Amino acid sequence: MNPHKPDQPIGIFDSGIGGLTVADAIVKQLPQENIIYFGDTAHLPYGDKSATTIQAYSVKIAEFLLQRQCKMILIACNSASTAAFELIKEYIGKQAIVMDVVDPIISLLREQYANKKIGLIGTRQTVSSNVYQKKIEDLKQNIRLTSLATNLLASAIEEFGNGRAIDGLLEEYLSHPTLKNLDALVLACTHYPIVKNKIAKFFDHKMEIIDPSDTVAKAVKKRLDDLKLLNLEGPGKKHFYVSDYTESFAAGTKIFFQDAITLEHYPLLD
Ligand code: DGL
Repeated sequence: MNPHKPDQPIGIFDSGIGGLTVADAIVKQLPQENIIYFGDTAHLPYGDKSATTIQAYSVKIAEFLLQRQCKMILIACNSASTAAFELIKEYIGKQAIVMDVVDPIISLLREQYANKKIGLIGTRQTVSSNVYQKKIEDLKQNIRLTSLATNLLASAIEEFGNGRAIDGLLEEYLSHPTLKNLDALVLACTHYPIVKNKIAKFFDHKMEIIDPSDTVAKAVKKRLDDLKLLNLEGPGKKHFYVSDYTESFAAGTKIFFQDAITLEHYPLLD
């Protein structure tokens, strides 16, 4: 028997506004779903923290989302996905479905990018965890991956959005030799789609940019559909929480979801 009900919310979390790129894609594909979003702005950025620290934050957020009766917890952050997905799945057990943002991209690469040379940019945690590298090797599809940690980018996007201040950073990171002669580039940090147009422009629109948002939303839809847990009675309600109130988060939610949002401060006590 399925212990969950379709009208229970989908819980989504990230260190800040990054996961909104995924939340936005989910709302577009599944407008009936109720969404609870948690941005751990008090602990941002995650990408420079140790895996153990990210795991501790992720467990607290998962507990918070469970208390709010989420049927699914989506780790909409690559740093937390690579550090804490296995742990959170074990911790949550059958209380909710747990999904990450890595596996949907691995499936996409398996289906469409065999024998290609793929670049990846992400946080230090995401790149040094080697999770993408290992999962891609396991596919045995002759996909050659080169990864670059673009450490300061997520914090800069959190602060400046898609503004001009980002241009210099992108120039510095994207001109790295690691990113030469690729077939496609994976944006392996959920903050990066916010500056996708700038990244595409840097490569003169000649590089294929893999923005995971829609792929992840599609995977969420399929999983809920398979489990007969799609909410058919809309419209869905959206509720946003942050562990620290920041102007940039409030501004970010407005860009994605206009004014129709409820934003609450919920401190995650250490
Ligand atoms: N958006 C996140 C990610 O996908 C986190 C960035 C950060 O907080 O460093 O990795």
